[in-house]
Amino acid sequence: MDVVVLDRPEDVADHVAALISRLVERDPRLVIGVATGGTPLPAYRALARGSVDLSGVRLVALDEYVGLPPGHPASYAAYVEREIAGPWGVPAAQVVVPQGSGDDVERRIAELGGVDVQLLGIGRNGHLAFNEPGSAMDSRARVVALSESTRQDNAAPFGGAAVPTHAVTQGIGTLLEARGLVLLATGVAKADAVAAALTGPVSPDCPASAVQRHPRVTVVLDRPAASALAGRGLLEGASSQRVHHPQL
Ligand code: PGA
Repeated sequence: MDVVVLDRPEDVADHVAALISRLVERDPRLVIGVATGGTPLPAYRALARGSVDLSGVRLVALDEYVGLPPGHPASYAAYVEREIAGPWGVPAAQVVVPQGSGDDVERRIAELGGVDVQLLGIGRNGHLAFNEPGSAMDSRARVVALSESTRQDNAAPFGGAAVPTHAVTQGIGTLLEARGLVLLATGVAKADAVAAALTGPVSPDCPASAVQRHPRVTVVLDRPAASALAGRGLLEGASSQRVHHPQL
């Protein structure tokens, strides 16, 4: 695992944008799994401002709410169009956002030949995509019930309207099949979840701990998100807070 700790959230965005730019320069048709939370937004914007032509990439979203009308602004389909595909110039035919059954999500990912690089956020409760605590490490794409903490954390875009109770999400087993993972976290609110995911037992109690099972993982954190890692062995021995052995 490659853990990069940087000073500010902007540095996290720039680092991730540079990493993705390098990969797209090598493969303009890269299949990028995109997380749709607040954390990666600055990285998507940095990529849109950059000089690399992103219009050939294929995009696969992690998850989607169940029951929202098409085009609902809080849907992840709308997020991907507004924040990623639109600004990057990626045509709709190159975008997959989960909908329907889990089997359908699996089939569409398989049709793309799998995901080359999967960007991931982490929930305060350790969720990975919408795999909430208790999710099996080999779970496949499926419809899931959202936890109360997730519904609270995601309430803002709904502007006071009820947050959906269910979502269709890639499973943990699905995510682990991506050829590379990039986990991003910023802010002290994520510190405990990050420490549990990276240094705790691999367990359904912390779905994000599944990243420890993947051979090619880059974790990009700002200092507050990394603050609970001190003393847990992961960063010790490094000459600075930046532990970087590029894998991707
Ligand atoms: P966030 O979401 O980036 O909006 O914090 C991450 C997540 O809940 O997985």
